[in-house]
Parts: sequence; C-alpha cells; structure tokens
Amino acid sequence: MNYRHAFHAGNFADVLKHAVLAQCLRHLKKKDKPFRYIDTHAGIGAYDLTSGEAERSPEWRNGIAKVIAADKPPAVADALAPLLDIVGAMNAGALSRYPGSPEIAARMARELDRIQLCEWHEADAKSLDKRYVRDARVKVERRDGYKALPALVPPREKRGLVLVDPPFEHRDEMAHMAEAVRSALPKWPTGTWIIWRPLKDLWASERFDVGLAEWLFEEELATPEKLLRADLWVRDLESEGKLAGAGIVIVNPPFTLEAQLLALLPWLSETLAQGEGAGWRLDGCATDDSLSVEEF
Ligand SMILES: C[S@@+](CC[C@H](N)C(=O)[O-])C[C@H]1O[C@@H](n2cnc3c(N)ncnc32)[C@H](O)[C@@H]1O
Repeated sequence: MNYRHAFHAGNFADVLKHAVLAQCLRHLKKKDKPFRYIDTHAGIGAYDLTSGEAERSPEWRNGIAKVIAADKPPAVADALAPLLDIVGAMNAGALSRYPGSPEIAARMARELDRIQLCEWHEADAKSLDKRYVRDARVKVERRDGYKALPALVPPREKRGLVLVDPPFEHRDEMAHMAEAVRSALPKWPTGTWIIWRPLKDLWASERFDVGLAEWLFEEELATPEKLLRADLWVRDLESEGKLAGAGIVIVNPPFTLEAQLLALLPWLSETLAQGEGAGWRLDGCATDDSLSVEEF
C-alpha cells in the first residue's frame, strides 16, 4: 500500500468528488431525521498543503487554488458553495489546508448524524483515529473497506451516503470495487452511493459504468433517472503523464445535482484545463452501444 493521498489532495479530481459529496450531504440535511455517512477508503481526513508530499507534487495549485481564485458565475458558486465554505473555514489566511472526505462529513454532519470511516493503511488509520477520537459521531476502523461494506449497510438510520474512493493502486481494483458494490448495494438500494474511478484505462472504466448500470436496472435496484455519471478531464485522456481525467458515478443523487453539475462541469474543465483536449461528460451511464469510449 504505497498510495498517499497527500500528493493529490485538492487536485481537479478531489474538487469534483468533494463538491458532489458536499452537495449530497447538504441535501441529506434538509430533513430532520439522522443520516449515516460511510467512507470505505477514508484517507487521513484533512491535508496540509504545505507538507513535504503536497509541496513535492503540488496538484492542488492546479485544482482548488485555481477554483478559489477564478471568477464564478452564480450557478457555479452555488454548486461549489458547501465545499468552498469548508475550505474557507479551514483557512483563515492563505490556502494551506484542504479537507478530505471525512472532514467534509464531520463539518457538515449534525449531532444526530453518524460517520463511519474505514482506512486500511495503518499509519493513516491512526492519524484518522487521532483526529476524530473526541468526536462521538465518528467511528474509525482499520478495516478493508471492500470487505467491511456489506456488513455496514443498511445502517440503522436508513438514510445516508456511501463514498467508495479507492486508490487504484492495483490492476484489478475496478473488479474489486464492482464486487464490493454488488455485494452491498442490494442491501441498501435507497442510500446514495458515490463511486469514484479514474479515467485511465478507458475500457475498464466504461465496462465498470455500463456493467453497473445494466446490473442495477436488471435487478430493479435503480431506474435510469437514479443514476448520474460526472466526468472531468483536464487534458487529452490519451496524454502521457499524471492522471488526466476522473469522475464519479452516483446512485440516487439528489434531484438538484444534475442541474448543478451541468453548470459546474464546463466551468471546471475550462478553469482547470492543463492543455489541449480538456473536457467533461454528464450522463446516466448510457447502456446502449452507441455511447463508446470513442466519444471521449
Ligand atoms: C483516494 S484515498 C481516499 C481519499 C478520501 N476518500 C478523500 O476523499 O479525502 C484512498 C485511501 O484508501 C486507503 N486504502 C487502500 N486500500 C484500502 C482498503 N482495502 N480498505 C480501506 N482503505 C484502503 C489508502 O490508504 C488511502 O488512504
């Protein structure tokens, strides 16, 4: 396990994922009833952008730093507001701290809500535990998030959100992720599920998305309007080097999310472009063959 999220904290992929996460949590808070947040791959909770790792690979400068500095039309500002409110609260002066998904959940959850965090890396799990040891709403477990997931759902609260955000260190990560989702989602088909994947091996991600959609529809676990896919790429996806694109598949998104993403994605792709061929996609993981990876 070599993956360290500190190298990537606040990059374009984090901004999209965390903007969506914060919007979904905001929606869950509209009802008085408690919700549960489950993070299968939690990381350390928050990141110091001046640390050795973040300085060596300052991806955040091409991500959250540009997002903060740019002019935002009202619809974009609205879509980013829950995330940027948290980033603002963590940074009194210059940008030096960025929230991970656990911190976004911890800052948005109410007294009655519950947060369940799985992190398998020993040192990261310890950091996470230390960070939230005094927060009675948060439970940190050093566990394999994939194995834990089927046992964690459905939560007692019956409402809530699962974030599946693996490091994609291993070639078969997509298959592991699909297996974990398939073993857990049928136990909690009404939860909101945010599933992150890189756009590296485009066939693998397309197979994952379309396979998930077809399975959900066949098993009558979701209807097409309950599935949303949001992808962002900051340069040509075929280009060499660092990650060029990533995105999320959301099962049971809040009904307001599609319109927010329709405003946010084109703005992000323009604002965060790192060269030729930046782009975005928002759809429902279409299962017909006419949508293929050639469309990227
Ligand atoms: C992409 S990072 C998570 C980032 C975090 N969700 C966020 O948005 O701030 C992936 C994390 O998963 C951890 N990890 C790797 N394999 C795992 C497993 N099988 N179960 C739980 N955590 C794992 C890594 O140590 C790493 O901290």
